[in-house]
Amino acid sequence: MNTSSPQFVLAARVLHWLMAALILTMLFIGVGMVASVSERHEWLIRIHKPLGIAILLLAVVRLIVRLRNPPPPLPADLPAIQKLAAHASHWLLYLLMLVIPLVGWAMLSAGGYPVMLSDSLRLPPIFPVSPVAFAVLRHTHAWLAMLLFLTFLAHLGAALYHGLIRRDGVLSSMTGYRPK
Ligand code: HEM
Ligand code: HEM
Repeated sequence: MNTSSPQFVLAARVLHWLMAALILTMLFIGVGMVASVSERHEWLIRIHKPLGIAILLLAVVRLIVRLRNPPPPLPADLPAIQKLAAHASHWLLYLLMLVIPLVGWAMLSAGGYPVMLSDSLRLPPIFPVSPVAFAVLRHTHAWLAMLLFLTFLAHLGAALYHGLIRRDGVLSSMTGYRPK
């Protein structure tokens, strides 16, 4: 099949793989954090907050790169339903990359906790203090993280389907790898 389709621009590819690693790390840190009552809880949460804010900033940069550089088109022979699923899941991933860190930040603000990124760097609150809002946002953060993980699993399955079964150049448009 066609393997000479165009690629995502370099900035989009670098951001994709960097953020994939960071987001997967964050999902595991998050789950490990809430499952631990040892002193590791404090240590994990000290990593979780700045890394989450870094993901938020990178997601904004990535959206700008995306809007300035249209992605390579999907193969013309891909069924319309699969094209729709690809576009919908990509925009859902972008949305979750922005909303999950914002909900985490809002949750801590609503709980009245200082949002410390380091010993001295403190972010301003973005939500008024409210125990009810804290509880709702806490659950929302966990459910959205679960939705992100499920969407990632579907995305991984689709990427492998393109790369191993259809061999239609979609996977290499993101890896940059071109078999000779
Ligand atoms: C893409 C970014 C992020 C991801 C994927 C993520 C993911 C998670 C996950 C999976 C959990 C565990 C939920 C549970 O099972 O109950 C969690 C908890 C938490 N997250 Fe995030 N998070 C992100 C960003 C943030 C940010 C930016 C903040 C705050 C500035 C934050 C603050 C928290 C807090 C306070 C908890 C609860 C910790 C606890 O109860 O011990 N998260 N996060
Ligand atoms: C949490 C991890 C990941 C996230 C959040 C993520 C997110 C995204 C997003 C938002 C796009 C759309 C790019 C655009 O149109 O601007 C995309 C494209 C793509 N991703 Fe991922 N990705 C992740 C992991 C992976 C992995 C592990 C693979 C491969 C094994 C992969 C393979 C691809 C491919 C091949 C495309 C291009 C699809 C196309 O041309 O429509 N991604 N990814």
